[in-house]
Amino acid sequence: MVVDNIEKYFRFSEIPDGIKEEAAQKVALSPYRQKYHIEAPTGYLNDPNGFAFFNGQYHLFFQWSPYRYAKENIWYQGWYHLVSDNLVDWQFLGPGIEPDSKFETHGAYSGSGLAMTDELLLFYTGNTRTASGKRIPYQIIAKMNESGEIIKRQLPEVIGNVAGYTDHFRDPKIWSTENGEFLAVIGSQRNNLTGAALVFHSKDTYDWQCLGEIETGHKELGYMWECPDYFELAGEGVLIISPQGLQQEEEQYQNIYQTGYFIGNLLTKNQLTLGQNLTFTELDLGFDFYAPQTTIASDGRRILIGWMGLPELEYPTEKFGYCGTLTIPRELSIDEGQLLQKPVREMKAKRGLYTTFSNQELALGQKVSEALELQFKISELTQENFSIDLCGNQDFSEYTRLYYDGKKAELWLDRSQSGTVVGENYGTKRLLKKNNRGELSLHIFIDISSIEIFIDGGTEVASSRIFPTSQQRFIRGYFDKNVSVKIDSWDIQHNN
Ligand code: FRU
Repeated sequence: MVVDNIEKYFRFSEIPDGIKEEAAQKVALSPYRQKYHIEAPTGYLNDPNGFAFFNGQYHLFFQWSPYRYAKENIWYQGWYHLVSDNLVDWQFLGPGIEPDSKFETHGAYSGSGLAMTDELLLFYTGNTRTASGKRIPYQIIAKMNESGEIIKRQLPEVIGNVAGYTDHFRDPKIWSTENGEFLAVIGSQRNNLTGAALVFHSKDTYDWQCLGEIETGHKELGYMWECPDYFELAGEGVLIISPQGLQQEEEQYQNIYQTGYFIGNLLTKNQLTLGQNLTFTELDLGFDFYAPQTTIASDGRRILIGWMGLPELEYPTEKFGYCGTLTIPRELSIDEGQLLQKPVREMKAKRGLYTTFSNQELALGQKVSEALELQFKISELTQENFSIDLCGNQDFSEYTRLYYDGKKAELWLDRSQSGTVVGENYGTKRLLKKNNRGELSLHIFIDISSIEIFIDGGTEVASSRIFPTSQQRFIRGYFDKNVSVKIDSWDIQHNN
């Protein structure tokens, strides 16, 4: 384990126990640990990886740098492995893909999983840099067998980058075609520094050929497309990308980096045109969302999990030696050319104590559980206003506010008073819905340091980290008198 410049590939087991213990102790002091969302045991969590249903279970990995905050220089970046029977209760297994070969000295970067008959294929990017700092990406395949052992193939499947594109070339998402062949989409950057998604084809998963770019009609949508994901849903082709470098446009593209989707034609190895002038729609309107990945559930549903976080932002958990959390899984569907995202139905199994509040009770403020599911069914909205304060302290000097401006018919999320601030340079308010009158439904999932809001059956979703300084959780709400509202709330059961 020689770190800095020379061979720095090694296995987790080679990291000294003392470093591991110290890191774990620091995490244990955090007031922000989530109750039912996935977080790294220590260190940095980013993209979800390798999400697949295989051998009777869901497998999920995340990008993991366990000792990023240790004082020793431990440069280890790989995949952490989790399994679940139901998508909502996860077992933490430990390191999954380790950066233990010369093809991933600077990290086993993001990639995807594909369940085969008796093995789970994992296709990912090995990130390396030469002594002079030049980046060389490798696309690598590892296989997990039914006993959970992960074995890498000796050869990287794709070496370096493609002519016409830079070394920002990573995050393969693989799928199989009807005739038993394989396609993969890989996040890329053209030589003119614009983002693209390149498609590769293979008959056997060993020999890969670049077929070219997916055509979307967008030649200048940011400088790099990270973590592309392609899938078919309801007879349409869906491409999700996380582009970097989009300019803010009015209320759009407010975060440091974006994630959004296109819906178009089905792709085949002979047909890479998703469309000519497709609409790029943001997937999540909250403050913290990036690099999601989807898979197909055992019953055919398309499920998405995202990183509830963003690169390059500082989060208050870092002083406790960790950072990052994943969203709850979402079921995807398409309605009138738009992707709908709903919390997975399995979340219902986690419902505990049920409570309902009247308007009047809510106006007084109510103490609620710190792990909470809330549903507001609001109707008769014409010109009226309302505001809902979540995750408040007892005197409501802190709160996270959802408010509706009746004149403009706009729903906003405001985290300016949410506690310890994060990402302030990117603003403290987000517009979640425009031109909405009549009815509005809000389905909200609260944890110690996050809030996910599903609006109107998933037409919009907003995921955000919040860092309330106390863990007392109060909610209150004001609704103009003509507004009718029904409020349901459930404690969420958890083991933490
Ligand atoms: C996205 C990303 C990916 C890369 C990974 C490294 O957040 O930058 O493009 O594979 O993170 O952790």
